[in-house]
Amino acid sequence: MADFLTIAGMSRAEISRLLEATRKSVPIAEGRSPNRTSLNGRVIANLFFEDSTRTRCSFETAVHRLGGQVFNLTPSGSSLNKGESLVDTARNIECMGVAAIVVRCAVSGGAKMVADGVKCPVINAGDGRHEHPTQALLDVSTLIEEFGSVEGRTVAIVGDITNSRVARSATHALSTLGAHVRLVGPPTLVSKAFERITKGAGSQGQGTVSTMSNLDSALEGVDAVMMLRVQFERAAGGAISSDYRQMFGLTPERIAKLAPHVVILHPGPMNRGIEIDDKVADDPQRSRILRQVTHGVAARMAVLEDLVGV
Ligand code: NCD
Repeated sequence: MADFLTIAGMSRAEISRLLEATRKSVPIAEGRSPNRTSLNGRVIANLFFEDSTRTRCSFETAVHRLGGQVFNLTPSGSSLNKGESLVDTARNIECMGVAAIVVRCAVSGGAKMVADGVKCPVINAGDGRHEHPTQALLDVSTLIEEFGSVEGRTVAIVGDITNSRVARSATHALSTLGAHVRLVGPPTLVSKAFERITKGAGSQGQGTVSTMSNLDSALEGVDAVMMLRVQFERAAGGAISSDYRQMFGLTPERIAKLAPHVVILHPGPMNRGIEIDDKVADDPQRSRILRQVTHGVAARMAVLEDLVGV
């Protein structure tokens, strides 16, 4: 791989290879196995033009676990505040001899713009509403740890689908690996265009993608439920009604009806009491939300090693 920008367009074999590398990195991410040295002497630049907690810190931790060094650039305190463009910023950072650039930005397609403007490898850490490919790796890796494989499993992704790069990347990854994805939310937040993500639905071991607007029907027969944050900063507030929690919130009453093996994911940050209730987010049996964070470090280790490891 030259860059890691999207899950769309990746083959089952390519995704599986990165998932296997992720799985092997989990004990290091947990601090149980010794760190590696594959990024020794390399400097990675984290360019985060949008806020982040888990993604930014896990990229940093992943670099440390691989023996490299990392620095962060965020708009506050940088010349981005003076109007310098994304690509100009990245080009200048590249000239400092970095081995790779990790970029998060509000513009859909922004990571590709950066990749086209520099020679070093670029990793997309979330670009607008487009894709968040390392998040998809960590989501699927968490489910594989749970079920052994996602093939034939049904995953409901619930909430603000339209604004969600997480939903887009996860849908590509899950359907390519043979899972069945139900995208659930109010019609204002679920674009039918998402169904087109599955090219040969049902053929060649591909999974399927469907859209649904009734959460209770969508939860019937699922193996996992991924709740999404209502992205108020992307104006999703105007697209939800006051009964959102009642219609689309994951409540203790709803999870009581699920089969015992069903697990719950959320990429974070959570709007507790809106898309997910406290008792669900903190459910010791079903919640894998914090486990996802550990897999996030492992997934970023896998991608960094693949692109710039020695
Ligand atoms: C997500 C993101 O930024 O796309 N968070 C994350 O990376 N863990 C989802 C969100 O912000 O709701």
